[in-house]
Amino acid sequence: MSAAYPLAVARIGAYDIHYADEGRGFPLLLIHGLAGDHSAWTPQIAAWRGTHRVIAPDSRGAGRSSQVDEPISTEDMARDMLALLDRLGIAKAHVLGRSMGGAIAQHMALLAPERVHTLMMCASFARLDAFGRRVLSNMREVLEMTGSWAAQARHSVQNFVSADFFDANPERIAAIEQLIGGETRLQACYVRQNHACLEHDTLARLPEIRCPTLIMGGGRDPICPLACTRWMSAAIKHAETVVFENSSHFFLMEEPEHFMNTMNGWLARHTPRAPEQGRSNMAENFTLHVNGREHTVNAEANTPLVYILRNDLKLKGTRFGCGQGNCGACTVLIDGKPVQSCDTPLWSAPGHEITTIEGLGSAEAPGRLQQAFIDEQAMQCGYCINGIIMSAEALLGRKPAPSDAEIAQALERNLCRCGTHPRVLRAIKRAAGAER
Ligand code: FES
Ligand code: FES
Repeated sequence: MSAAYPLAVARIGAYDIHYADEGRGFPLLLIHGLAGDHSAWTPQIAAWRGTHRVIAPDSRGAGRSSQVDEPISTEDMARDMLALLDRLGIAKAHVLGRSMGGAIAQHMALLAPERVHTLMMCASFARLDAFGRRVLSNMREVLEMTGSWAAQARHSVQNFVSADFFDANPERIAAIEQLIGGETRLQACYVRQNHACLEHDTLARLPEIRCPTLIMGGGRDPICPLACTRWMSAAIKHAETVVFENSSHFFLMEEPEHFMNTMNGWLARHTPRAPEQGRSNMAENFTLHVNGREHTVNAEANTPLVYILRNDLKLKGTRFGCGQGNCGACTVLIDGKPVQSCDTPLWSAPGHEITTIEGLGSAEAPGRLQQAFIDEQAMQCGYCINGIIMSAEALLGRKPAPSDAEIAQALERNLCRCGTHPRVLRAIKRAAGAER
């Protein structure tokens, strides 16, 4: 399919990932679905590039990105997206995914919760129901049996829109058929991604997602039926759910105004106000739960949480390093997840349990990780260590006996400029009871 915007390219591991990078403002990552590439977002890129930096990649195996016939999972594609954000110097973004793109976005929120500012999913799924599995499998089998994109388009197009829309818009149906029928990607990549969708199953882990989440489903969608929407809504208790009752998988096309109004309202509510747009200088009261105690602070809504912890609550154990979400020195736990407090606005903190290094223990009674770091003499200058301990605490909370690889992965967002890495590893294993 043709590029709707000039595409840049980033080498991510063994793959070239092409992407559109349009506009300025708080980053917004758009992840396309199984049938298509970044151009599926053409109207949305045009609408949002005035207010956001819009990144719309072609996923591995789609559009202009590398086409390789090899097994792939939605998690693999999520790691590509996170690496692309790294490459672009983007610490945190709104992430919006369509169908398979929503499945990829879920993995991003699970792998790197601190990178996903809000999660938005259109016609997506955490696990497909039996009906959706059959429809998706059939679409793949037509391609496998005929080897023809045109045949696949002809046999699939009725799955994307409602019967009413199909009947009333023959030219638009013909245009969708032509678009899918003119696909040029390696067919094996579609087949592999189709299997990735069938295998995708994050349902049991969705309750871990704590960022603001918007779930949108089509009432007549046979690919991701409403059952899939309801399962996700039940698993992410704080999620907002919007159902486009009379539309199908392509409700963005069937009800564009409803979709754009929903999205614009969401983005307006959840996009941090940029400093250049002028922060409100009206201080407000916010109630925070920190280390098991309640505190009320009076400050501007966009104040980074690290300032509140250090200056208002005098919890100086949380360090300030880069101030841009890149070094991890300021890591605290929010509801047990490691988060960079320099990159977390005050307004997002009420209603959550915040834990700082002081909440793990004191000089007189150190916590298990603090004691292990002392025993292993695991600090040199020590500036990074409190953030590292907080990331390790989150890891041990969900994985009591982590492997070396899991420890390394958990500390990916913590930089240390000194040289105690082996001791840090030993200290974490000691705290886990694996090394004494
Ligand atoms: S100070 Fe927050 S990540 Fe560096
Ligand atoms: S011990 Fe010095 S930066 Fe990590």
